[in-house]
Amino acid sequence: MSGRLAGKVAFITGAARGQGRAHAVRMAEEGADIIAVDIAGKLPSCVPYPPATEEDLAETVRLVEATNRRILTSVVDTRDFDGLRGAVDDGVAALGRLDIIVANAGIAAPQAWDQITPEAFRDVMDVNVQGTWNTVMAGADKIIEGGRGGSIILISSAAGLAGIGSSDAGSIGYAAAKHGLVGLMRVYANHLAQHSIRVNSVHPAGVAPSRPVRCEARLRYHAPAIPGEYRAGRLVLDEPFLGAAPGQAAVLYSGSRVLGGGIIASAT
Ligand SMILES: NC(=O)c1ccc[n+]([C@@H]2O[C@H](COP(=O)([O-])OP(=O)(O)OC[C@H]3O[C@@H](n4cnc5c(N)ncnc54)[C@H](O)[C@@H]3O)[C@@H](O)[C@H]2O)c1
Repeated sequence: MSGRLAGKVAFITGAARGQGRAHAVRMAEEGADIIAVDIAGKLPSCVPYPPATEEDLAETVRLVEATNRRILTSVVDTRDFDGLRGAVDDGVAALGRLDIIVANAGIAAPQAWDQITPEAFRDVMDVNVQGTWNTVMAGADKIIEGGRGGSIILISSAAGLAGIGSSDAGSIGYAAAKHGLVGLMRVYANHLAQHSIRVNSVHPAGVAPSRPVRCEARLRYHAPAIPGEYRAGRLVLDEPFLGAAPGQAAVLYSGSRVLGGGIIASAT
C-alpha cells in the first residue's frame, strides 16, 4: 500500500459490513485511523434484508486493527444527530483530527412505485437523506478547524443518476433519496471549496456484499434492475469497489460531470 492517507482520520457511517467496512479497511490500509459508526441492529420495517450486528462491527474493528491502525466505534443511528456528534467528538478527542467523511450508511426498501407506503417512503428519506446530512454536519466543522482541507464522500447509487427505482431495486423513495445526495454534494462542494474540502458523490450499481449468504436477499433485489448504461462491466462487483475490482460498475459524480469508471475519491 502507498500510505496515501498516512496520518489522516476518516469518519465512516454504516461501517459494520459491506461497503462501509470496505471503506474502513481500505482507508486503514492506506494509513488512516477510523471513526466508525453503525446502527448494528434493527432497521425500519420496510427493509427486507437482515440487519448488521454488533458482531459485524467487531469484525470491522478486527480487520482495521490488523492493518495496525486505530479505530473507534459507536453504535449510532445516523438519524440521531446528537449521537453522531458525540461519536465524532469522542473520535477526534482520541485520534486528534478529522480529514475525511464517508457518508455510507443507507437502506433500500424494494417496492413497486405504487405500492410503497408513506411510512416506508419517509423511513428511506430519513436514513438516506437526513442521515447523510446529519453525518456531514456532525463532522464538517472538525475538518474546517483542522485547516488542512479534506474530503467528503457521499455514497449515492446508480439510482441517484437515473429513474431506476422499482420493486426489484431500491424503490422510488430510494431513487429520490439518492438523487437528493447529488444536491447535497453540489451545495456542500460549493460552500466547502473555500476550505479546500473536496465533496464527491459515488454511484455504485450492484455491489456484492462482503457476506453474500447473509445479504443474499438484498442482492436478489438489487441485481436485476440496473439499466444497461450503468453496466459498464460486470453487473455486480464481486467485492465492494474499494477492493481490488477497479469499479466497472460505479461512476463518480463530481461537480457537474460524471467522471465514469468506478473511481474512488482519496483525501487531499
Ligand atoms: N449494494 C449495492 O448494490 C449498492 C448499490 C448502490 C448504492 N449502494 C449504497 O451503498 C451504501 C452501502 O451499502 P451496502 O451494500 O454496503 O449495504 P449494507 O446493508 O451491507 O450496509 C449498510 C450498513 O449501514 C448500516 N446502517 C443502515 N442504516 C443505518 C442507520 N440509520 N444508522 C447507522 N447505520 C445504518 C447497516 O447496519 C449496515 O451495516 C448504501 O448507502 C447503499 O444505499 C449499495
